[in-house]
Amino acid sequence: MNIVKAAMIGDVVGEQGLETIEAKLPVLIKEQNIEFVTVNGENAAEGFGMTEKDFQRIIAAGANVVTSGNHIWEKREFWTVLETEGHMLRPANYPSGSSTEQIVSGTGFASIRIKNINWITINLQGREFMNAIDCPFQCFDHLINIHVGKAMDYHPLISADGKPMPNVFPLILVDFHAESSREKEALAYYVDGRVSLIAGTHTHVQTADERILPKGSAYITDLGMTGNLDSVIGMEPKICLERSRKQVLYHMETAAEKKPGHLQGVIAEIDAETGRAVSIRRI
Ligand SMILES: [Fe+2]
Repeated sequence: MNIVKAAMIGDVVGEQGLETIEAKLPVLIKEQNIEFVTVNGENAAEGFGMTEKDFQRIIAAGANVVTSGNHIWEKREFWTVLETEGHMLRPANYPSGSSTEQIVSGTGFASIRIKNINWITINLQGREFMNAIDCPFQCFDHLINIHVGKAMDYHPLISADGKPMPNVFPLILVDFHAESSREKEALAYYVDGRVSLIAGTHTHVQTADERILPKGSAYITDLGMTGNLDSVIGMEPKICLERSRKQVLYHMETAAEKKPGHLQGVIAEIDAETGRAVSIRRI
């Protein structure tokens, strides 16, 4: 076994989320010997989208890849960052267009080699209670077929005689940005055995269902968030309460800063020789 550690960190909300990740992520990486980190940054700009500076701050704190979701389109000027930064992802299943026209900026796929290990990150978005974008299930298959090869089927890393194969396949992490727990668990079972770690984002509330699925993928329904937990999903409770009570869409603001902020996510131990997860625990 060659055990490596990956961390996936939940949505960074506002300035306090950014300050929290800057203070806590470098310490976590060092203390836990984490080799690869994804951070969902889609709410870094006061809860709505990201700026280029936000992206750079999250990368400087130790993220290898920054993932996102439906809020990533909020800041029009950020779309150029999506086009130029290979480490900045948007959900892959937004309409991709034809070979001659790309409808939506950016990519939902990153492949990064660190110390002889290929780390692939795939960012997908759900459709239940969300925008009716392309199918995340078909999009996943499409990306795997293009980038990893059709040879990668269920139990891809185990040979016919049941022995682990050499590390010819990359280690794959999936950030599934979705509202519905049912859709998140369904996709997790769909990709089980084909990825090392799949984690949900978007609800900002950490779930307690982290586990290793039957075919070896580590899973959690939602990573939670990074920022001020004394809030309604990172935003000011008073405003959120009025929105829900009156059904009037008052503009939301991030909750007033309270130190220290919380960093939520998971750390998974992965056998780099088989791609299978051997443990997952919440941060
Ligand atoms: Fe979010």
